[in-house]
Amino acid sequence: MKSVLDVLKTNQGNYVSGESLAKMSGLTRAAIWKQINHLRALGYRIESSPRKGYCLLMPTQVLHPFEIQEGLKTQQIGQTIHYRDTVDSTNIWAKTLAKDGAPDGTLVIAEEQTAGRGRLGRTWASAKGKGLWTSLILRPQIAPSAIAGITVLTAVSMARAIAESTGIQVQVKWPNDLLYEGRKLAGILAELHGEMDRIHFLIVGVGLNVNHSAEDFPEELAERATSLRIIRGECLDRKMILQRYLEEFERAYHRMHEGNLQDVIAYARMHSATLGKRVTIRSGGGPSLSGEALALDDDGSLWVRDETGKEIKVFSGEVIEEA
Ligand code: BTN
Repeated sequence: MKSVLDVLKTNQGNYVSGESLAKMSGLTRAAIWKQINHLRALGYRIESSPRKGYCLLMPTQVLHPFEIQEGLKTQQIGQTIHYRDTVDSTNIWAKTLAKDGAPDGTLVIAEEQTAGRGRLGRTWASAKGKGLWTSLILRPQIAPSAIAGITVLTAVSMARAIAESTGIQVQVKWPNDLLYEGRKLAGILAELHGEMDRIHFLIVGVGLNVNHSAEDFPEELAERATSLRIIRGECLDRKMILQRYLEEFERAYHRMHEGNLQDVIAYARMHSATLGKRVTIRSGGGPSLSGEALALDDDGSLWVRDETGKEIKVFSGEVIEEA
């Protein structure tokens, strides 16, 4: 027996009679009607006609956990999902869930954030249903000193997911951003909770602009941001990109535990928007560092040659490109 949703999906765009639905699902007409109403409440657009039956108009653009998990090839990452239509920030919600014991690999996702957070106290514009606003709760079994590569790992996992599901090759701006032709497509906010020698948990938030048209961005971002839809000229399947991201992330996360991020770093080097450029890096509260971005180390940190010719290893920071 198939679920009502499966039957409608297989026949998407075409009517399926109530009789066929009853046969294929093993449900009574009344139970089918109840299911249809439930699916509509979840956001599916289903037309009904007394003579023709039911027709699923288009795949839902809503990211319900059961949709995400259907066909997801991971053991751990995304196997527990917390979903809401609206939250203040998925990173804030994830922190609460982590404190309540949410397992390693839990995905926290929302259609809209009313107070999406960016780095350095900035806000992150998170229009409803347009992007992927996600946070992963991680409990890595490694020393805090080995965690530096997590943002590059995240950026590469998302870059690979985008390439696999849309064919678009994006650039990694060390250590936290994805760019396309110099415009920002995605940002990462990784927050560590723990002590000097022990990680309690880590929240890795990623915001990816997927189906925005130019008018969906606030005015101040219009010149600096872009979306996959603007790049490709058509709407893209958020669910597919998310599934590939979770799968890529899991592979890379395992490698991080094995102490071998080489393949991830090689990808970041090959698609780098930073290497070879003159940069100024602001990190923590300390003085900023200006120089040439020389190389990415195997642990994900960046080597910079400063004005005096000294080579300095930087673990994290905000990169400002010089003109
Ligand atoms: C930046 O580029 O400044 C980082 C942006 C990070 C945005 C994401 S969206 C999902 C998660 N929840 C948040 O509040 N922020 C991150």
